[in-house]
Amino acid sequence: MLKIFQKNRSVKKMAQEIDMSNLPKHVGIIMDGNGRWAKSKGLPRIAGHRAGAQTLKKISQFAGDLGIPYMTAYAFSTENWKRSKEEVDALMDLLLEYLRDKDELAGNNVVIRVIGDRSRLSDEINKEIDEIEEYTRGRDGMVLYLAINYGGRPEIVAAVNRLCKKVQDGILEPGAVTEEMLSAEIYTPEAPDADLIIRPSGELRLSNFLLWQSAYSEFWFSDINWPDFSTKDFTQAILDYQNRNRRFGGR
Ligand code: FPP
Repeated sequence: MLKIFQKNRSVKKMAQEIDMSNLPKHVGIIMDGNGRWAKSKGLPRIAGHRAGAQTLKKISQFAGDLGIPYMTAYAFSTENWKRSKEEVDALMDLLLEYLRDKDELAGNNVVIRVIGDRSRLSDEINKEIDEIEEYTRGRDGMVLYLAINYGGRPEIVAAVNRLCKKVQDGILEPGAVTEEMLSAEIYTPEAPDADLIIRPSGELRLSNFLLWQSAYSEFWFSDINWPDFSTKDFTQAILDYQNRNRRFGGR
């Protein structure tokens, strides 16, 4: 019995049903519903994001203990700059706080990598990203990609531009680009495509998340706001995933 299940009997019971040989290798999470969670409690929006960060810590450590090798968490999209300056600043401060306190998210042997366009992030945040990536490099636990100033379309455009440069440099023939080459140029080259994408809070859309990596993803939606998302919900998502019939276009 995995030690992560010892505390919670109902999770333990559910976990006995998990087929450990068929775990998703890459889980994407759209951490939605923080604002609504805060509003329902009469709290400022940032209190929802703060609670959401704690949920990320709990779920990523649970997923890592379970043996899931890659997880991507959508922390800040390329569109989130449209929010009020107050909320953007508060989110950046929260990210900075979690990046600085290295073991907060990266406890239990987690490897942290940040994906997205870092050019718009402050020098302070960029420095902490470099440090936490260096601090967790070489570990053999789950890789947690934090998607910050991330968009799926900008990710694909950046990959295409890198391939164009190779053509310009004469390393690659025009017309010779393959899917494998593009997969090697996106932000998550070492991870397999996302097997499972989880979006809580009742919204049923992808919102520019992992567009390239989600070609054959299974989706799991629920009405729970992210701060209330539990290890039991995560276990349920895994069980539901394992009951899907994945054909990848075949029969
Ligand atoms: C979407 O909920 C959530 C975000 C835009 C931010 C998610 C960020 C965190 C959970 C913090 C991550 C922290 C670390 C340390 C990586 P929403 O604000 O759109 O919620 P709403 O739709 O209910 O308003």
